[in-house]
Amino acid sequence: MMKKKGSILIMILCFFISFTLTSCNKEQNDILKEDILKEDTVSVEDITTNEEKENTIEEDESSQPPLTIRDIPSIELVKEFQIGWNLGNTLDATGGGALLTSEMSWGNPKTSEEIFITLKETGFQIVRIPVSWGNHLGPEPEYIIHDVWLERVKEIVDYAIDNDLYVILNMHHEEWHFPSYDNLEKARTILTKVWAQIADEFKDYDEHLIFEGMNEPRMKGTALEWNGGNAEARDVINQLNQSFVDTIRNSEGNNPYRHLMIPTYAASSDPKTWKDFVIPEDDKIIVSIHSYTPYNFALNIGGTAQWSSENTRDTKDIDYLINNIYNSFISKGYPVIIGEFGALDKDNTQARVDWAKYYMQKASEKGIPCIWWDNGAFTGGGELFGLLDRRENIWKHQDIVDALMEGISNKEEIE
Ligand code: GLC
Repeated sequence: MMKKKGSILIMILCFFISFTLTSCNKEQNDILKEDILKEDTVSVEDITTNEEKENTIEEDESSQPPLTIRDIPSIELVKEFQIGWNLGNTLDATGGGALLTSEMSWGNPKTSEEIFITLKETGFQIVRIPVSWGNHLGPEPEYIIHDVWLERVKEIVDYAIDNDLYVILNMHHEEWHFPSYDNLEKARTILTKVWAQIADEFKDYDEHLIFEGMNEPRMKGTALEWNGGNAEARDVINQLNQSFVDTIRNSEGNNPYRHLMIPTYAASSDPKTWKDFVIPEDDKIIVSIHSYTPYNFALNIGGTAQWSSENTRDTKDIDYLINNIYNSFISKGYPVIIGEFGALDKDNTQARVDWAKYYMQKASEKGIPCIWWDNGAFTGGGELFGLLDRRENIWKHQDIVDALMEGISNKEEIE
């Protein structure tokens, strides 16, 4: 009996133990499963997090796309073009106020892509596009450029870039940057606000797009306007040039590597005005000089119509100009572009042909690209600098254009 009782007890005990073990196992399994689930959940979360992280990294990287501009000094870049053409009296024209019709307000037609095709086919390698922004800005303090104006400027820049031309986008007739200490802060504010917007708009363009900060900053309306100004004006211009460079360098995309042009006082070719000219430390700066030389032949309507390459009295001014530029800038490693040159039509085609060839020859021998000022004017009492009839898209002075091309000293290399 005792044995029977004992075995019953043992059975109960076994059942109990086995139940306990099973339930323990179950609990353990559940805990394990939970852990696995937890682990699963954790790991899924982790993967997601990592993917997100990767995305963020990619996003970070993609917010700074690789540079699409060649990192070369300007002294190298200027070897790639010798002869250029100004789209004068067009986007720089100031008639018509804030309207887009200001482009036509000085008598030129609406700019078409066809003329850039002609320029390229003729052998021009670079175009300067002067733009006056002052009438196309919103109020202070932001000075927002009117959308439609910026879009139109971009459209024309693209006509040139799409046809494989270099472009200098220039700031031209502005009434707000009189170079004096009194006006400095206002001028600096507008200059930097406007250039920051232009820089942003064109940030992805490569080295084919050059920015030129100002045109001919000078003491407009004073007796010193064309005589080199005074020390204050030249200092203010130095400061404005530096602010322009800083603005572009601190902007996005390719702009830290963009080639920039800065003018001397009034973009003057007179060495007296260069003595306190400051060039910011930066290997992508080009000095901008304008020179309608000799003045009496090239720019003075009441001057002479005669010029001959046979006569040293005529040629010496061009020689002097080019040697000065070479000695003061190029020999010291600072590249120069003659951003405006040309000779007025005084019904003197042969003299202009000789002059154009001589000028180009001398400049290109020393590595100075020159950009003809073409204001589209062929008749009337004003400055007749027109070469290209933009309405018909034909050269009205093919012989002068040919002379410019012949004057390029290393023409074979370009072709
Ligand atoms: C200056 C002026 C331009 C003028 C040219 C020749 O660049 O900005 O309008 O036609 O010189 O005088």
